[in-house]
Amino acid sequence: MVSPETSDSKPSQNRRPDAPDAPDSEPPKPVPTRIVLAMQGVTKSYPNGRVALRGVDLMVPEGDFVFLVGPSGAGKSTVIKLLIRDELPTKGLVLLDGRDLGRLKRRDVPKVRRRIGVVFQDFKLLPNKTVRDNVGFALEVTGARAKDIAPAVDRVLRVVGLTGQADQLPGQLSGGEQQRTAIARALVHNPRLFIADEPTGNLDPVISWEIIQLLLRINELGVTVLMATHNAEVVTAVRKRVVALENGRIVRDEVGAAYHRED
Ligand SMILES: Nc1ncnc2c1ncn2[C@@H]1O[C@H](COP(=O)(O)OP(=O)(O)O)[C@@H](O)[C@H]1O
Ligand SMILES: [Mg+2]
Repeated sequence: MVSPETSDSKPSQNRRPDAPDAPDSEPPKPVPTRIVLAMQGVTKSYPNGRVALRGVDLMVPEGDFVFLVGPSGAGKSTVIKLLIRDELPTKGLVLLDGRDLGRLKRRDVPKVRRRIGVVFQDFKLLPNKTVRDNVGFALEVTGARAKDIAPAVDRVLRVVGLTGQADQLPGQLSGGEQQRTAIARALVHNPRLFIADEPTGNLDPVISWEIIQLLLRINELGVTVLMATHNAEVVTAVRKRVVALENGRIVRDEVGAAYHRED
């Protein structure tokens, strides 16, 4: 945690731990909302001159569930690439837990990335590893101790409902089960922020709905969720915050909005 002193959500968090308790007569201070991610004036031009984002401002408080919508080419994946520091902004700031990702030292990148769980439309599973090993491998490469890996893997497989498929290979799974494996792998580090880029893009409506239910459940467990999607039905049915991008700009940011697909 970058700033452990602010991770305490009690109203007393601004006081030093050794400060005496406030007298009862003192009015309660409002609980400051933690901002998990913030983009400030972000412009992104790719080397070929294509401008993908233009002056984007976005604040996502802890515990939020955000749908990022907009037509193909609007800049949704670029937002996600900036958040996982796959790309750097041309202008502006991208902050994760108040930390400027653009100024992150190279050696700190993996540590920060581990605090974000990411899944994509294609599941990117290792075809020759079982479900259990796909998930466990994600911990193994970070140097986790062998004895800690198995219980962590069991826990996330329970969360995504794949305990019974733990020893199967990805090729023996349905699309929905493959995406749930990818979600388990993204969760195994206990991320603060869970990002999904069109996670239901390859799935039929019933299975897509199951994946959304799972992301809502992950959000209920306290993880902030940002999901880029084209799935208008889902966005309209789930009354959550909707941030709409068009041509690299945020054109709408509302809670519980319907989403009318334009492409
Ligand atoms: N690596 C890249 N190089 C050049 N242009 C890119 C690159 N990635 C995306 N773009 C362009 O940036 C714009 C936004 O793309 P993207 O963020 O992928 O949108 P979305 O995910 O909403 O479909 C598009 O015009 C796209 O062609
Ligand atoms: Mg995209």
